[in-house]
Amino acid sequence: MDSGIYREIKREYDLKRQRKIDTAKRFKEKIYLENPVLSKIEDEINLLALNTTKVILNADEVTKQIEQENLAIKLDKLNKKYDRELNKIGLTRKDFEPKFDCERCQDTGIVKNENNYAICSCFSQAVINETYKQVNINKLSEENFDTFDIGFYSKVADVEKYGIEKSPMENIENIRKIALEFCNHIDDHNQKNLLFVGNTGLGKTFLANCIAAEVIKKGKTVVYQTAPILMDQIMDYRFSYSKTGNEKEQYNKIFDVDLLIIDDLGTESMNNHKFTELFKIINTRLLKNKKMVFSTNLSLKSLYKEYDERVMSRLIGSFTICKFVGEDIRLKKKLIQAKKLT
Ligand SMILES: Nc1ncnc2c1ncn2[C@@H]1O[C@H](COP(=O)(O)OP(=O)(O)OP(=O)(O)O)[C@@H](O)[C@H]1O
Ligand SMILES: [Mg+2]
Ligand SMILES: [Zn+2]
Repeated sequence: MDSGIYREIKREYDLKRQRKIDTAKRFKEKIYLENPVLSKIEDEINLLALNTTKVILNADEVTKQIEQENLAIKLDKLNKKYDRELNKIGLTRKDFEPKFDCERCQDTGIVKNENNYAICSCFSQAVINETYKQVNINKLSEENFDTFDIGFYSKVADVEKYGIEKSPMENIENIRKIALEFCNHIDDHNQKNLLFVGNTGLGKTFLANCIAAEVIKKGKTVVYQTAPILMDQIMDYRFSYSKTGNEKEQYNKIFDVDLLIIDDLGTESMNNHKFTELFKIINTRLLKNKKMVFSTNLSLKSLYKEYDERVMSRLIGSFTICKFVGEDIRLKKKLIQAKKLT
């Protein structure tokens, strides 16, 4: 891992964590100030524990046991009293705990698995976001399965217009299910990758964002990039003479990351080198069982024209093709906005 980026993110984590701890502490102090009975009980608890420790220190075995049992009973009583007082003002002990962004690592960036320490997936993802300058990732709080709205898709089927029997709404419901299924089985060998095809403004990028958010939530890492930028980043790497650790790291992530999302496939200018690279990415990831989601607004026919046989045979063979149909949502949203203004 590039140590510069690593250090910078670690610093941000430490600051963030400290901020959350301070906020929790301030909240507790405020509540104690308003409810002195709470701090009184807490003092009693502390004092009791301290005094008992002193007695136990020099006591014989029998006295020790009696004192310990006494302490347990008294502590239990005081703790219950404390909880009752909290309950009166509508709080629980949990309300005094810091609200960390990541439950797994409590915003330390490190998790303990049995006796080993490992970097938490949220930290790995933060490093990926920084190395790839993943701007889309910021949109994940807006575009996710909770904000997914099927109301933008028509209930009326029209075979001539859309080329399918189903209505756009039925169609998107089905695609949404496929996408959720994909997220839930991201590690399965049998789970195919996803290829989103369809005209502009039909929600392909939106659904790709939903998938990214869901997969990150599950503690997996995601590289999300548009095809032109990704291909440029790869070409820069392949044809630069002096490769820094960071560049190498970034390049290798494309093969290793749990999910690779390439948006707007077909908008990049292709050449033979790029075909080879794209093929290498797809092939390596298929062999490693690492999943991919691609989106394009080219038709399959145009894709065949743009990409060579090797790439296409893999796209067709190992991807579930989801065809988006309907009316341009971008346009619909603009019209709604314009109506609001008049
Ligand atoms: N299911 C949805 N719920 C709410 N808003 C949506 C939904 N799908 C798409 N949108 C909104 O519609 C607009 C267009 O969607 P999006 O960018 O995903 O289309 P696209 O298919 O990726 O288009 P393009 O091919 O041009 O990239 C965006 O503003 C997006 O937020
Ligand atoms: Mg898009
Ligand atoms: Zn974490």
